[in-house]
Amino acid sequence: MLEKATLKLGETTFDLPIVIGTENEKAIDISKLRDVSGYITLDSGYKNTGATKSAITYLDGELGILKYRGYPIEQLAEKSTFLEVAFLLIYGDLPKKEELDKFQADISRHTLIHEDMKKFFDGFPSKSHPMGQLSSLVVSLSSFYPESLSARQTDEEKNLTIIKLLAKMATVVSWIYKKSIGHPIIYPQNKYDYVTNFLNMTFGQRTEEIEIDPVVVSAMNTLLILHADHEQNCSTSTVRMVGSSDCNLYASIAAGISALWGPLHGGANQAVIEMLEKIKDDGGDTEKWIKKAKDKDDDFRLMGFGHRVYKNFDPRAKIIKKACDDVLNKLGISDPVLDIAKKLEEAALHDPYFVERKLYPNVDFYSGIIYRALGFPTDMFTVLFALGRLPGWIAQWKEMRENKEPIGRPRQIYIGEVNRDFSEIQNRK
Ligand code: CMC
Repeated sequence: MLEKATLKLGETTFDLPIVIGTENEKAIDISKLRDVSGYITLDSGYKNTGATKSAITYLDGELGILKYRGYPIEQLAEKSTFLEVAFLLIYGDLPKKEELDKFQADISRHTLIHEDMKKFFDGFPSKSHPMGQLSSLVVSLSSFYPESLSARQTDEEKNLTIIKLLAKMATVVSWIYKKSIGHPIIYPQNKYDYVTNFLNMTFGQRTEEIEIDPVVVSAMNTLLILHADHEQNCSTSTVRMVGSSDCNLYASIAAGISALWGPLHGGANQAVIEMLEKIKDDGGDTEKWIKKAKDKDDDFRLMGFGHRVYKNFDPRAKIIKKACDDVLNKLGISDPVLDIAKKLEEAALHDPYFVERKLYPNVDFYSGIIYRALGFPTDMFTVLFALGRLPGWIAQWKEMRENKEPIGRPRQIYIGEVNRDFSEIQNRK
C-alpha cells in the first residue's frame, strides 16, 4: 500500500501523505501543499475533492452501494423506521428499544411550535413555494430558541436543539401544506409515532378522526429513509460549510434547504413530474423528448437521470421503482405518468448517449409518482425530501462540530483585470 504520493513541480518534488478510509477509498492529502509549494489545486464543482473525513455514510458510485453507518440501504429500507434511521445517523448506532422509546418521547415533547410563529405562516402569499417557506421558517426557529445561537452549547444543550428541530420540522412541513390548501392546521398528537403524526397533521381533519393507512405509513417511512443521508452532496456540504463558521443549527439547516431546492439537486423530484406531465400532454412520444435531451442546442435535460457519483445505478432508485409499483397496486391507483416514466427509462437505458455518459435514473425519477399517489401536491415533493434529509444534515453538522473542523474557505485562481486606475465617471468609455 502506498504511504505517500510524490508531486514533481519542475526540479522540486513534494511528498504528500496518503489517506485511506475504512472502505479502502484513497486520497492524497494536499492540505499543506500551498504552504510548501505555493500551488493550490483547482477542481471546479469539487468533482475530485474530498472535503472531510466522515464516519456517517459510504457510497460506491461504480458498484451502486449505499450504507448508513455500515448498514446497507436495502436492509434499512426494508426493516427499519425513519426515526430509527435518524437515531442511527445522528448517534452512530441503531437504538436499543429503550433508547428508541426515549428518542420518540423526547421528540413528541417538542413537536409544538410557539403560537406566535403561526403568524409567520399567514404572512406568505398563498402561492409561494413551500421550499422558500420552509427555509425561512426553519431559520426563524432560531429567534424562538436564542440559546441555540451560542457555539459554546454543552453536548446536552446541543442535543436538545437537535431534538427540537427534528420534532418541529414535521409540524412546520405539514402546516405549510395545510395553509396552501386553506385548511386549518392540525396540532401534533403524542399518541402517534413520528411518521404517523406527520401524516395525521398533513391529511387529518378537524371535523373527524381519520384512519392513517398502514400502506401510506410504510411508503412514507421508506421514502424518508432513502433520502436520509447521501454524504457530501450540495446541500450537505452547504450545511457543513455554514456550520463551520460556528453558525447555529437552525441557520445551517435553512441554508441546506435552500441548496436542496435547485432542480439539479432535490428540486428534481418536482421537475420530474412536471416533465412527465408535459410528455403525456404532448402525446407521450418519449423518443422525441430523448432526442431533445441529447440536443446540445436545447437546454432540456432528462430530469431524474444522471448523478455526480452513481455511474452504474442508483440503489435508491431501484428500491423506489419497486416501491412505486407496490404502493400504486396496494392503493389501487393507476397513474399514466408511471407508464411514461418506464418507457422513458427503457429508451434511455438503450440509447448510446445515456449509456456512454453512464446516465441512469436517480432517486428522484420515481419518488414523485409515489408522493403523488400518497396525496401530496407536486410543489411539496422537495419539502418531503428535506424532511427525509434532515437527520443526515444534523448528523453531518454534529460530526463537523465534534471534529472541530476549521472554517470552510476554498481558494481560487484569479483571472480578472490586473491593475487599473480609477477614472472619473464623465471620462468612462
Ligand atoms: N439529461 C441529458 N444529459 C445529461 C443529463 C440529463 N439528465 N445529465 C447529465 N447529462 C450529460 C451532460 O450534458 C454531459 O454531457 P457532455 O459530456 O456531452 O457535456 C454529461 O452528461 C455529464 O453531465 P454533467 O452535468 O457534467 O454531470 P454532473 O455530475 O455535473 O451532474 C447532475 C450531475 C445530477 C446534476 C446531472 O446528471 C443532471 O442535471 N441531472 C438531471 C437533474 C437531476 O435529476 N438531479 C437529481 C440528482 S439525484 C438527487 C440529489 O440531488 O441528491
